[in-house]
Amino acid sequence: MATLTFLGIESSCDDSAAAVVRHVEGAGPEIMSSVVEGQTALHAAFGGVVPEIAARAHAERLDGCVDRALADAGLTLDAIDGIAVTSGPGLIGGVLSGVMLAKGIATGAGKPLVGVNHLAGHALTPRLTDGLAFPYLMLLVSGGHCQFLVAEGVDRFRRLGGTIDDAPGEAFDKTAKLLGLPQPGGPAVEAEARQGDPNRYHFPRPLLDRPGCDLSFSGLKTALLRARDALVSEKGGLTVQDRRDLCAGFQRAVTDVLAEKTRRAFVEYLASGPDSPGFAVAGGVAANSAIRAALETVCAGHGVRFLAPPLRLCTDNAAMIAWAGIERFRAGLGGAADLVARPRWPLDTGAVPMIGSGKKGAKA
Ligand code: KG4
Ligand code: ZN
Repeated sequence: MATLTFLGIESSCDDSAAAVVRHVEGAGPEIMSSVVEGQTALHAAFGGVVPEIAARAHAERLDGCVDRALADAGLTLDAIDGIAVTSGPGLIGGVLSGVMLAKGIATGAGKPLVGVNHLAGHALTPRLTDGLAFPYLMLLVSGGHCQFLVAEGVDRFRRLGGTIDDAPGEAFDKTAKLLGLPQPGGPAVEAEARQGDPNRYHFPRPLLDRPGCDLSFSGLKTALLRARDALVSEKGGLTVQDRRDLCAGFQRAVTDVLAEKTRRAFVEYLASGPDSPGFAVAGGVAANSAIRAALETVCAGHGVRFLAPPLRLCTDNAAMIAWAGIERFRAGLGGAADLVARPRWPLDTGAVPMIGSGKKGAKA
């Protein structure tokens, strides 16, 4: 089909989202609407996302998001060529809410339905925003994920490495909690770090002494906890400047680790001789300007194009799901087999599961 218009639905974590994306052959994609309803306030009192509360909120809000996405795009369901929905990985209650809604709409309207891996949504975003050609290197850094992937095709992703414990966003969130800063922790820690001295505390750079692209962030969080406790027992509390310096030291450690592991990922990626090398970063942590700047510098050193999609497309949204649905549909992929809601669903199914993947297999 020369023109494809897809409705995308996303509900794998704590954002209820719907979007309409249109692809016109020869002209590229256009995001016609993108509605994201976050749930930060609902979970604030609990210090993290509560799966049951998230699932209930998705069930209550998703159909409203779909209505708004269609209205914002100025379309009715008749104009939609297909429905794409995140069918994993994620919190199962939320994923099920989205999948059931998408199945209902697709069946009722007689439209094709495409199941999308949430991570593939993030990983294919640079093609939606900038038409990046395969193969490109991708760093996904969010509250739940951290991995280097070579995107080789719509359905072909090679994982070069990832975190063996916490994701960096999680580490930012826990750091904020330890220091009494609000959630989500990333922006709060970044704001403090901006006024802090990154050299006062030297936190560990985990796994830099080992080859490869795997990362680890849980030790860093523990080191921060120790430094905080030492200050508290020494002086009875933290000064404003202590907190800023702790944040700056922490952020510097995360930045150094991500930059060095990106250098290593480049060696592996560039060895395959891509025609026009590209690197893209996605996920909420990509919003961090110190991290972005460090990654950009690494790219410049290797002659690789650097790409960071706009923030609203870096964090969870449904435009990336609609786009991944279009990509899959155009490639003749998708269909019923993908439409089982899956809490765990690694993109690179051939890769050895990460340490800490859990009893039920690799999460992502
Ligand atoms: O991609 P995202 O919206 O959701 C998923 O985790 O899937 O990412 C959210 C994460 C949170 O952990 C948040 O603290 C982190 O991204 N984050 C940041 C910044 N903004 C958001 N981390 C560091 N610096 C930031 N400026
Ligand atoms: Zn995500």
